[in-house]
Amino acid sequence: MKQGPGFLHVARNVILVSLALFACWTAAFYITKSAYAYISWNPHDLISLLINAMLGFIFFGLFIVIIGPLVKGREYDFLHEMIQALRSISRGDFRVNLDSDFVKRNGRPGHNHPFAELVDSINDMAANLKVMEDLRQEFISNVSHEIGSPLTSISGFARALKNKDMDQEKREKYLTIIETECVRLSRLSDNLMKLAVLDSSEHASHKTSYRLDRQLVTLVLACEPQWDDKKIDMNVELEEVEIFADEDLMIQLWINLIHNAIKFTPEGGKIDVFLSQSEDKVNVRITDSGPGITKQDQLRIFERFYKVDQSRTRSMGGSGLGLSIVHKIVEMHDGTISVFSEPGEGATFTVQLPVRSA
Ligand SMILES: Nc1ncnc2c1ncn2[C@@H]1O[C@H](COP(=O)(O)OP(=O)(O)O)[C@@H](O)[C@H]1O
Ligand SMILES: [Mg+2]
Repeated sequence: MKQGPGFLHVARNVILVSLALFACWTAAFYITKSAYAYISWNPHDLISLLINAMLGFIFFGLFIVIIGPLVKGREYDFLHEMIQALRSISRGDFRVNLDSDFVKRNGRPGHNHPFAELVDSINDMAANLKVMEDLRQEFISNVSHEIGSPLTSISGFARALKNKDMDQEKREKYLTIIETECVRLSRLSDNLMKLAVLDSSEHASHKTSYRLDRQLVTLVLACEPQWDDKKIDMNVELEEVEIFADEDLMIQLWINLIHNAIKFTPEGGKIDVFLSQSEDKVNVRITDSGPGITKQDQLRIFERFYKVDQSRTRSMGGSGLGLSIVHKIVEMHDGTISVFSEPGEGATFTVQLPVRSA
């Protein structure tokens, strides 16, 4: 019988209360009896019964008042502990771990203690806030690092330029480095701004119906100077596809992917851009003939600030935010993005979007 433990608990309480009542009325009986003997009074049976009953109730009340807090004491202590935990969370100290065994030990068998859910929620909240706080700290340290290194380089070369004896060629070289680092800083602030806007819950996307193939052609042509410079063979095969999406965000998505493909493809390499539609899904595939990405790195390239090769990416001016912006935009359109790559054999990024996202 599943109800067994609950029934035993109720039975135990009934027996305890009955024993308390029995003790109180017995005490009342003997106390009144000796009091009557002491003052030599022999009251009527009814009067004696009423006085007895009243005294019994008073004793029982006192018993509850005295015993109650003793029984409830541990529970109050635990409540206090929970309040303390909430106070430390509000102060930003998330090292909170309430003893959930307490509620298990003190709950009625077969029933959840009323605090049980609260304790789990407080522990979960503290753990989640701790994760968010760690991410925030990591983000700040990444941003500081990304800002710090170009600034060091800019100030170093600017100081060197103060030397009046420097020849023109060296001067030009230093000025170019300073310019590149400034461009990097401004791109970083641009990307950070974009991420902040995408992250904010107030970001309203403006979705419209438009021709995705036309958008992709325009963007590939806009990048022509870059891929033409590297003599890249750009192969574009697009079906006519109409999509319902935020046009501006989509531009950002394709530009980031196409720029990466161009950036990582060596001179004389090849890039393919495919667009097709199958049922209610749109598939965009961008394949390059760059160095490829290892399986391990494929798991992390969508993380903010993640760069596979710090020095190579640095020389190419990346900050590791491009793909996290891509990921965010795909997510906002209920789509998916995947990467297929073997080191040394190029990389393929596939974006799948619903034709009409919610
Ligand atoms: N097409 C690609 N081929 C090889 N590696 C790539 C490619 N696209 C991205 N990566 C790797 O993923 C990392 C993250 O990319 P991304 O977020 O766009 O940052 P970045 O600002 O460096 O371009 C890059 O540093 C690079 O190492
Ligand atoms: Mg990039």
